[in-house]
Amino acid sequence: MKSNNKVALVTGSSRGIGRTIALKLHKEGFEVVVTYCYDKAAGEKVFTEINKNGLLLKLDGGNERNVKDSVEEFSKKYDHLDVLVVSGMHDKPHSFKKTSFEDWKFVLNSKLDSSFLVPKYFYQLLKKTKFPQIILNTSSVEEKPQIGALAYSVASAGVANLVKSLAIELAPEGFRINAICPGTTRTDNWIGFGLEDDNMWKKFADSNPMKRVPTPEDIAEAVSYLVSDKAKYINGLFLYVDGGSRHKS
Ligand SMILES: NC(=O)c1ccc[n+]([C@@H]2O[C@H](COP(=O)([O-])OP(=O)(O)OC[C@H]3O[C@@H](n4cnc5c(N)ncnc54)[C@H](OP(=O)(O)O)[C@@H]3O)[C@@H](O)[C@H]2O)c1
Repeated sequence: MKSNNKVALVTGSSRGIGRTIALKLHKEGFEVVVTYCYDKAAGEKVFTEINKNGLLLKLDGGNERNVKDSVEEFSKKYDHLDVLVVSGMHDKPHSFKKTSFEDWKFVLNSKLDSSFLVPKYFYQLLKKTKFPQIILNTSSVEEKPQIGALAYSVASAGVANLVKSLAIELAPEGFRINAICPGTTRTDNWIGFGLEDDNMWKKFADSNPMKRVPTPEDIAEAVSYLVSDKAKYINGLFLYVDGGSRHKS
């Protein structure tokens, strides 16, 4: 017998922002499907944190075969999906001059392709619920490019357009599609690019109007709002969680 509970799937929930969103949704009563891409041990750790109440999947959002397999695996336990959050990706931040075509393809696959493929193949399961929701994690750089992160900025802008397109196309079927746009957040995403550099993080905080960078918890709170009934008429929104830093030149 399959579960009647509300189910949320969060891609890239083995760590960082996705992990915190998964834990938050679990706390709010969802059965949560945790996914990892490369690091199974990290996925298992989060799965244990939610008392194994849900499911653990390997999901590489940019790999069509793997996304289809994930749908199959998911369907053994659930016949519906209420909330889909696409957050998982890995970056290779380089300038235009330093970005190889391989880097470009990797980042666009990781962020943009996955934002298309995961909703595409989970669509039928989302359709089974009355008020299905898709939340795509883009970035505050969807608006203004981040210098030195060319492919990432372009992919984020692509995800932003996808949010707008899906919000128009799927709303008549009862869907709500929204974006969360985090500012610079201290997660493993920054490994190799200054994660441990306290001075760099102090500079980021000092340059933010709110004098700190967002935490994964700030971003999970935004998701919590979007999935709540309070947001039932909110569709196609870009919810920035950046302390207002996007308004600075
Ligand atoms: N951190 C920031 O400053 C920041 C700012 C704005 C937006 N964002 C966005 O927030 C999201 C999460 O970033 P984060 O900072 O939490 O990064 P993170 O700590 O590095 O976590 C990335 C997560 O994504 C998974 N992942 C990697 N490639 C994937 C793929 N192809 N398909 C599905 N999952 C994949 C990873 O799984 P494994 O561990 O198994 O590899 C991991 O769970 C990203 O979309 C990022 O663009 C981050």
